[in-house]
Amino acid sequence: MLSGELSAEWSREWQVVTATRSYAGEGARATRSFYNPAVSESTVTQQQLRTPVLRRSFRKPYPVAVRGEGVYVWDADGKRYLDFSGSAAVNFIGHGVREIGDAMAEQARQLEFVHTSQFTTPVAEEFAQELLEFAGGNFSGGAVYFTSGGSESIETALKLARQYQVDVGEEKRYQILSRQQSYHGSTLGALAVSGNRKRREIYLPLVREFEHIGIPYCYRCAFDCTDSCYNCGQQYAAELERAILAARSEVAGFIFEPMSGATLGAVTPPPGYLPAIAEICRRHGVLLIADEVMTGMGRTGRNFGVEHFSVEPRGIAPDILVTAKGLSSGYAPLGAVIASKKVVDGIANGSGAFLHGFTYNAHPVSVAAGRAVLHRIREQKLVRAADSEVAGTPGSALKAALESLRDLDVVGDVRGMGLLWGVEFVADKKTKAPFAPEKNFAGMVGQACLRRGLLVYPMQGCVDGVAGDHLLIAPPAVITAGEIDWAVEEIRAAILESA
Ligand SMILES: Cc1ncc(COP(=O)(O)O)c(C=O)c1O
Repeated sequence: MLSGELSAEWSREWQVVTATRSYAGEGARATRSFYNPAVSESTVTQQQLRTPVLRRSFRKPYPVAVRGEGVYVWDADGKRYLDFSGSAAVNFIGHGVREIGDAMAEQARQLEFVHTSQFTTPVAEEFAQELLEFAGGNFSGGAVYFTSGGSESIETALKLARQYQVDVGEEKRYQILSRQQSYHGSTLGALAVSGNRKRREIYLPLVREFEHIGIPYCYRCAFDCTDSCYNCGQQYAAELERAILAARSEVAGFIFEPMSGATLGAVTPPPGYLPAIAEICRRHGVLLIADEVMTGMGRTGRNFGVEHFSVEPRGIAPDILVTAKGLSSGYAPLGAVIASKKVVDGIANGSGAFLHGFTYNAHPVSVAAGRAVLHRIREQKLVRAADSEVAGTPGSALKAALESLRDLDVVGDVRGMGLLWGVEFVADKKTKAPFAPEKNFAGMVGQACLRRGLLVYPMQGCVDGVAGDHLLIAPPAVITAGEIDWAVEEIRAAILESA
């Protein structure tokens, strides 16, 4: 018989909340219906703040997730949550898609694993080819390196850039330039190029840092521009050129998110900025590395986010494109580094071997999941579904619904594209003054949403790394207009409750 009490003191950071919940009745019945013999009843009812799992926080209890289907996740109490953030911009095809599990099981039955130093596999070769095609003509003749997630892929891309430069006779080039207020992952190399202050501050003594240039953020534009930030975009790009020149031919690559992900909350670059960046990199022999861990695989309404900014004749053609999250939609740990022909040729014709590897790169079961996910994305036309500029799509419904929040006093900005949006909160709409960071306004709204059965991604620090509150919204592309309207009304209520 399931029974238990949850009584938790959340820290000030999470608001002081004492929650009491009973597991008897409804919840118990719901839990039994998803019964998994591998998980004991005592495990699913554990709600202590300390458990054998080293969780992300000791300060809050975590609901126990037991099932997912479509845009919904259920916890062990039987409570249903609408996943309006795709977990953390991960799920794109919806939860619980049977054919993905089937593809993984079939691969595991056939061949669970081989090491990439000894074998390749049909599934890796086929999926790599499909992914190169999905990435477009710029990557024709290139190659894909599969990893187990975003951070591993970023590490791989940084090393690939360095080795390319060595292999083409540019041994002096080793620095990787990046941007402030960016996030590229949690491993030490990825943290070094990230700008997200909170996530990296205490680890800084462990990392080797290079220059972080400014990042355009039009809502809080530092220049008094009146041209939709075209001109200031050029000034930010010029900062890159100055940093490259200051580094005296030692720059191997420049890494950027086409659209800011978690750190700034779906900030889109001003017109002309990315083509200018690309042109500067090309002119100085610096590899352009697009981090599409969050924006890739259809999330923004294009196969990859950079496609929005490739207006001929000033296209932007990354030399290396990194993706993860939506690549497997969360069904398996998977990331990919897509390298252009130029980069692959450089290494193939240079040393002839990439000096890098993880035990689990190109894991057959993960790659099978990714392949089945891409098949699903194509079959269900989910990239088009995500396009917020096409009438009648979930993308356009999301844009319209979120824009309606602008009438609230504390909503300063609503921005984004496709199915990746940010809602920024302000204490004063006129001056754009943020809330005091200690208030954790975004966290309060996030918790109020959670109580209402809605998952969002609250973040702080968009103003200066500490102050500034926003929500990141990134639902699966199978969401309906009705579900979007319900979710946005719940966000409205959660904001009003927190203000
Ligand atoms: C743009 C970007 N790059 C890299 C990463 C790191 O990916 P992972 O958490 O899968 O290691 C993230 C994760 O949020 C991300 O948003």
